[in-house]
Amino acid sequence: MTPLLSAHGITVRYGSLAALDGVDLRIEPGQRHGLIGPNGAGKTTLLDVLAGSTRAGGRVLLAGRDVTRLGPAARSRRGIGRIHQRPAVWSTLTVRENVLVAALPRAVRPGRWHPSARRRAAERTADALLTRVGLEEIAALPAGQLAHGQRRQVEIAMGLAGRPRLLLLDEPAAGLSAVEVAWLGEFLRTLPRAVGVLLVEHRLDLVYALCDTVTVLRDGRTLATGSPARIRASGPVREAYAEGVA
Ligand SMILES: Nc1ncnc2c1ncn2[C@@H]1O[C@H](COP(=O)(O)OP(=O)(O)OP(=O)(O)O)[C@@H](O)[C@H]1O
Ligand SMILES: [Mg+2]
Repeated sequence: MTPLLSAHGITVRYGSLAALDGVDLRIEPGQRHGLIGPNGAGKTTLLDVLAGSTRAGGRVLLAGRDVTRLGPAARSRRGIGRIHQRPAVWSTLTVRENVLVAALPRAVRPGRWHPSARRRAAERTADALLTRVGLEEIAALPAGQLAHGQRRQVEIAMGLAGRPRLLLLDEPAAGLSAVEVAWLGEFLRTLPRAVGVLLVEHRLDLVYALCDTVTVLRDGRTLATGSPARIRASGPVREAYAEGVA
C-alpha cells in the first residue's frame, strides 16, 4: 500500500548543528504514529519540514506524490494539517471566526462555487467542528480571552477544518489539566481513521495509549521505530529519556 506520508533522508542544519540528520519516516493511511524524544531531539523541526515551513535536504512524499518543493499553503491544500507547540490562534477574532478562516480554503474546490456558497459551506464545517470539540457555547468570544486549554481546542478545530489527511500535532497536551488531557486522548481516539496522525508528545502515557507505531528521535537521528510495547521496553529509549525532558 502507498504510505500516506514518507520522508527520506531529512536533514536540517543550523550552522554546525544538525537539527535533523538523515531522518526517514513512514506513516501508513489511518495510522496513529507517535514521535517522541528528549528536548532538542528535532521533533518540532521534523514537523516544520513535513508541513513545508522549514527547508530541508531529503524528500517528502504525500500519498506517493512528491511535495518536497511545495510551501506550507500548498501542502495544507493537499491535506497536511498542523497544530503548533504554542497555540496559534487569532486573538482578536472570535472562536468561530478562527475556525471559519481555517475552513474557507478547503470548503469547496477553488473557483467552482460562488463565494457566498463557499462561505456557507465553511460555516457548516466550522459549526460542526465547534460542536465536536465542545466550544459552541463560547463561539462568539474573542479567542484572546480564552484559557490555554480552550485555545488548544480552537486550534484542534482549526487543524481539522482544513479536512486533513494527515494531522501533525506538536505537544497538544502541554499545559493542559488532567481533565483536559483525558478529553484530548478521547478526542484523538475518536478521530475518523481517514485522518492519519503524527503526534509529538512528552506525555508518553498518551502516546502509548493512542499510537500504533512510535518513532524515537535523539540528536536529530532516529533511535528506534516500533510498537508502543517494543519502544516502552527499549533500554536505549529509556536512557535517552533519562537525560531529561522539560
Ligand atoms: N531556528 C533555529 N535556529 C537554530 N537552531 C534551531 C532552530 N530551531 C531549532 N533549533 C535547534 O535544533 C534542535 C532541535 O530543535 P527542536 O525544536 O526541533 O527540538 P524538539 O525535539 O522539538 O524539542 P522540545 O521537546 O524541547 O520541543 C535544537 O538543538 C534547537 O536548539
Ligand atoms: Mg518541540
